[in-house]
Amino acid sequence: MRQRKPKNLQEKLAAHGDYLVARPEEARGRWRSLFRSADGAGLGACGAGGLGGDGGAASPSAGAGCGETGGHVFSSRKLFLEIGSGKGAFLTRKAQNDPESLYLGFEGREAVVLRAAEKAGAAGLKNILFSNLYVRDLAPVFAPGEADGLFLNFSDPWPKARHSGRRLTCGQYLAMYARLLKSGSRIEFKTDSNNFFRFSKEVLEESPEFEIVEAIEGVYDACDANSLILSGLALSEYEERFIRWNRRIYFLSAAKIGNSFDI
Ligand SMILES: C[S@@+](CC[C@H](N)C(=O)[O-])C[C@H]1O[C@@H](n2cnc3c(N)ncnc32)[C@H](O)[C@@H]1O
Repeated sequence: MRQRKPKNLQEKLAAHGDYLVARPEEARGRWRSLFRSADGAGLGACGAGGLGGDGGAASPSAGAGCGETGGHVFSSRKLFLEIGSGKGAFLTRKAQNDPESLYLGFEGREAVVLRAAEKAGAAGLKNILFSNLYVRDLAPVFAPGEADGLFLNFSDPWPKARHSGRRLTCGQYLAMYARLLKSGSRIEFKTDSNNFFRFSKEVLEESPEFEIVEAIEGVYDACDANSLILSGLALSEYEERFIRWNRRIYFLSAAKIGNSFDI
């Protein structure tokens, strides 16, 4: 995903601060309180702060009452995550299609996360946030069992064997996901790489924390590309491009097996 760095990147990020969480670790255990209520009222935006800036009163730790009110109102809403959310097409559509749930995307590249925040802002969404975090360790960011699902769309495949530990479906990452997901929550993974699919399937099969629910080679094989694109289904930027190119897409869904981490 090559992209020229936009001019005045920091100013643009600050202008979309309502959709960007600057210090995600400060939201640990109370992510739901950061989202705005459906009518736009409430304190949800208190969790968002301009990326890289000081965030001022908008920091997750600021704003008395944020935790109580927001936490109470939103505590029953489901929280879904995406790692490597790119320019946000998938998550924005998910948030539009499912306004009762909350969506949080992590994207490691600033210029790319800006595009996602712009998209969410243009759609006027209240149930979506992004963070410019390059995910390595989410233990400081989520309490055990805080999230209800995780999407991994067209994650970097890291094809060289010596880089296999960087793949977002390697054993170390799965163990981390198992801590932050509730029992029964799913990881949904899509890729256009047969090798990455097979690697991820094998790791999931060996994992004591997950069981595979679906493994599909060619998830859209029977679909017409144009109808699919126009269907309103949440598709990521890469996914839409691959569908147009008739490139085969592989899909895995795995459920977390029960344990004591749930909150
Ligand atoms: C191949 S692109 C796919 C983007 C998007 N998911 C899609 O399907 O269109 C992978 C994206 O994940 C981001 N990324 C890769 N590893 C990441 C990590 N550990 N944490 C956050 N973002 C990551 C990259 O910056 C890049 O934007």
